[in-house]
Amino acid sequence: MEITAAAAVVVVLIFLFLSYNILKQIRRETKHGGPKLPPGSLGWPYIGETVQMYSQHPNVFFATKQKRYGEIFKTHILGCPCVMLASPEAAKFVLVSHAHLFKPTYPKSKEKMIGPSALFFHGGDYHAHLRKLVQTSLSPEKIKKLIPYIENIAVSLLDSWAGHGQVINTFIEMKKFSFDVGILSLFGHLDGSIREKLKHNYVIVDKGYNSLPTKIPGTTYHKAVLARKRLSQIVSEIISERKEKRLVDSDLLGHLLNFRDGDGQILTEDQIADNIIGVLFAAQDTTASALTWILKYLQDNHNLLQALKAEHISSEGGGGGDQKPLTWAQTKNMPLTYRFMMESLRMATIISFTYREAVVDVEYKGYLIPKGWKVMPLFRNIHHNPDFFPDPQIFDPSRFEVAPRSNTFMPFGNGVHACPGNHLAKLEILILLHHLLTKFRWEVVGSQSGIEYAPFPIPKQGLPARFWKESITSSPQK
Ligand code: HEM
Repeated sequence: MEITAAAAVVVVLIFLFLSYNILKQIRRETKHGGPKLPPGSLGWPYIGETVQMYSQHPNVFFATKQKRYGEIFKTHILGCPCVMLASPEAAKFVLVSHAHLFKPTYPKSKEKMIGPSALFFHGGDYHAHLRKLVQTSLSPEKIKKLIPYIENIAVSLLDSWAGHGQVINTFIEMKKFSFDVGILSLFGHLDGSIREKLKHNYVIVDKGYNSLPTKIPGTTYHKAVLARKRLSQIVSEIISERKEKRLVDSDLLGHLLNFRDGDGQILTEDQIADNIIGVLFAAQDTTASALTWILKYLQDNHNLLQALKAEHISSEGGGGGDQKPLTWAQTKNMPLTYRFMMESLRMATIISFTYREAVVDVEYKGYLIPKGWKVMPLFRNIHHNPDFFPDPQIFDPSRFEVAPRSNTFMPFGNGVHACPGNHLAKLEILILLHHLLTKFRWEVVGSQSGIEYAPFPIPKQGLPARFWKESITSSPQK
C-alpha cells in the first residue's frame, strides 16, 4: 500500500515537472511578441497525444487535426513535441529550400538496428558522399543492365505461386521479390549459400525492427540485434572474397569499396555494412507494399486491368509465341502502366509522412518551430487533398495525364533525402507487372477491403490471392 502511495506521488511529481517544463518552453517562445507556436494541442505531459493518435490511426488523426487547425499545427507524440505540415509549400520549405535547418531524426533503437552509419541518419558531407554513391549505383544507366536478371527473379517467383495453386500472402511474397532485386543491385550475383545466409538473418532483423527494444535475451528485439551483427559479418566475408579475387564491380558494394574522400580516406567495413543493410531496408517493404496495392487496385478496376494487359501484350508485338527479354525502351513506353503506378503510389502513399528535427529556432509563415522540435511533412494529407487531386478517394490514373502541381506529389519524398531507389522501384514493379499480366491470372481470396499497417500500409492480411498460369488455367478471368 505504502509502495503504491509512493509510486503515485512520484507519478504526480513527474507529471507536474513535465507540465511545468512544457509551459515554460511555450512561455519562453511566445514572450516579447515574437512568433507564436502553431495552433494545436500538446495533450498530456510526456504522453502528449500519442494515445489519441494510435487509438484512431495516424492518418485519421492527422486528417482530423488538419480539418480543425489548418495546414500547420502542433502536437506531442511519442515523447516529442512536433509540428505537422500538410501543405506542399511547407513540405518544400523543410525538405528542399530550408533543408539545412532540419536534420533527419530516428529513434535510437531503430538507428542501432539498421546501423548508425547508414546515409539516411546523416546530413552534410558524409551524407552527400554516400548519397552520390547510392544514386550512381541505382541510376537508370546502371539498372537497365539488370532487366534480364530482374525478369528471371519475377518469372521464377510467379511460377512458384502458380505452381502449387495455394493461396499466398501477396505482401510476404512481394517481399521476397523486392529482397532478391535489392540483393542484385547491392551485390550483383551472389553465391546461393551466402544469399540464403543473408536472407535468414535479415528476416530476423526485420521481425525485431518494430518490436519493443530490450536487452533481455530471447526477445524478438534481442534476437534481431544478434542477427544484425551476423549480417555485418556476412558483408565482411563478401568484401574479403572480392578483395581476394580482385573483383571490381559496379554494384553498390563496388562503389562503396572504391570510395575515397578528399583526403584519400576510405569507408570502414562498418560504414559499408550499415549502408548496404540500410539500402536493403529502405528498398524491401516499400516496394513490396506498393506492388501489393497495385494488385489490389487492378483487382478492383477490371477495365483498367484489361487496358494494362493490352498495353503489355502489344509492347511485345501482339503476344503469343516466345517472349523476348524486355528492353529498356519498352519499359519506358508503357504510358498507361506508368499512370497506373503513379495513381497507386498516390492512393496508397506508402510513406505517409517523414520526420525531421529543427536544428535552430525556425520561423515559418509567422509561426515558430522551436529548436529540437520534430517536424513532419504529411505526404498522405497532401496526396489526398481535393485542391490538388479532385475526388481524391477515386482511383483514376488519367489524372496523371497532366503533371501534378509542383510539390503536391511526393511518393518518393523530396529534396536532399529523396529516394535514390525510385528508378529501380518503378522498373521492378513494371517488370513484375509485365510477366503477371501477360502470362498469369489471379484471384484475391476472402475479404477484399481494409488496411493493415506493417508498418507501411498494406491491404488486409497482406492480400491473400491464388495465381494460375494463363495457358493452363481453368479459372474464371478476374
Ligand atoms: C515504391 C517503393 C519506394 C518508396 C515509396 C520509397 C519512398 C522513399 C521516401 C519517401 C524516401 C524519403 C524519406 C525521407 O525524406 O525521410 C526514401 C528514401 C530512401 N529510399 Fe526509397 N522508396 C522506395 C523504394 C526504394 C528502393 C527500391 C531503394 C533502393 C534500392 C530505396 C532506397 C532509399 C534510400 C537509400 C533512401 C534514403 C535517401 C537519403 O537519405 O538520402 N527506396 N524512399
